[in-house]
Amino acid sequence: MPPLTHALARGAFFPCRARHGRLSAALSHRFISTGLEELDASSEEDIMRKSISAIAMTAAAIAVPAMAFAYPTQPITIVVPFSAGGPTDTVTRLVAQSMSAELGQNIVVENVGGAGGTLGAARVAQARNDGYTLLLHHIGMSTAPSLYPNLPFDPTTDFEYVGLVTEVPMVIAARPSLEHETLADVIAWVQAEGEGVLYANAGMGAASHLCGLLFMEAIGTQMTVIPYQGTGPAITDLMGGQVDLLCDQTTNTTNQIRDGSIKAYAVTVPDRLDSLPDLPTPAEAGLPDFSVSIWHGLYAPSGTSPEIVARLTEALQIALADENVIARFADLGTAPSPASDATPEALQAKVVSEIALWGPVIEAAGEFAN
Ligand code: MLT
Repeated sequence: MPPLTHALARGAFFPCRARHGRLSAALSHRFISTGLEELDASSEEDIMRKSISAIAMTAAAIAVPAMAFAYPTQPITIVVPFSAGGPTDTVTRLVAQSMSAELGQNIVVENVGGAGGTLGAARVAQARNDGYTLLLHHIGMSTAPSLYPNLPFDPTTDFEYVGLVTEVPMVIAARPSLEHETLADVIAWVQAEGEGVLYANAGMGAASHLCGLLFMEAIGTQMTVIPYQGTGPAITDLMGGQVDLLCDQTTNTTNQIRDGSIKAYAVTVPDRLDSLPDLPTPAEAGLPDFSVSIWHGLYAPSGTSPEIVARLTEALQIALADENVIARFADLGTAPSPASDATPEALQAKVVSEIALWGPVIEAAGEFAN
């Protein structure tokens, strides 16, 4: 190796360090190795300027993404499209508590009830896509397109999907004063009374609406429907005897069934529940083909960055594996979705397939919102 490059290789040319400081020394050392002939006093300044800006840009390139993704840096709001105290609210608050611990930020639950959950969903569809306004909604996301001709959002394009949360069984319940002891007796009574029977639900497209629709289809009798902004207030009126029947999720009825403040005749899923072991299945109660359970998902406005959605999916999966969430869900007759379902892909597939499933049912029932 010729003497000069040998000297360079050993880093002989450090004298310039004194003048321009440690950084300039290192830089000029590198530049020197690419050929002395190019170097003169004036270009040294030039090199210094270029290298300082290069370092600044490199530092910025490293710093900015890290800063941009320091999510979340403020409290997050999850919109529940039904009243406080109801089943969707209960599920959301349990999951939000655990997600908040993982994300290191408060999560505020905001109840925006009305129109079977479509008002709250529309609110989030139009919200800023910065990751600070989310939606936890259920099967209503997939029934709304068939029920609401002028729906102000499209569930297949206006949201980013975070993941499935849980799938909740329902029960067919009644006011505590109803004298009938079996579902068969209740069916006979409804068939005899027809619209004299007051059936409560949480608006068109709500889970309690769909269950009621399927029940009335199954027994061939129409009841009078009394809509609420959620089954939270509906169950209060059921306990008080203002309405006769309600089909609602176990997350909103289990405690009332246990303490006798409402009556229940059957669950709406094929197997008995450990949380309500005395309640028969539809097949045992005389409605063999009757089955409905309510899936729930977490959403962000469309355009929310993939990094934020991925962070939310991660936090959701951690919350659904949280011992406390698992125990509380089990006590209320449900279970968290498995991690494989708590993903954007699984939720998207569910939304799309359920729109296709419920469309014909709603069409056949001729049930449409004005
Ligand atoms: C609620 O949270 O009030 C319910 O989900 C209402 C319903 O869909 O029946």
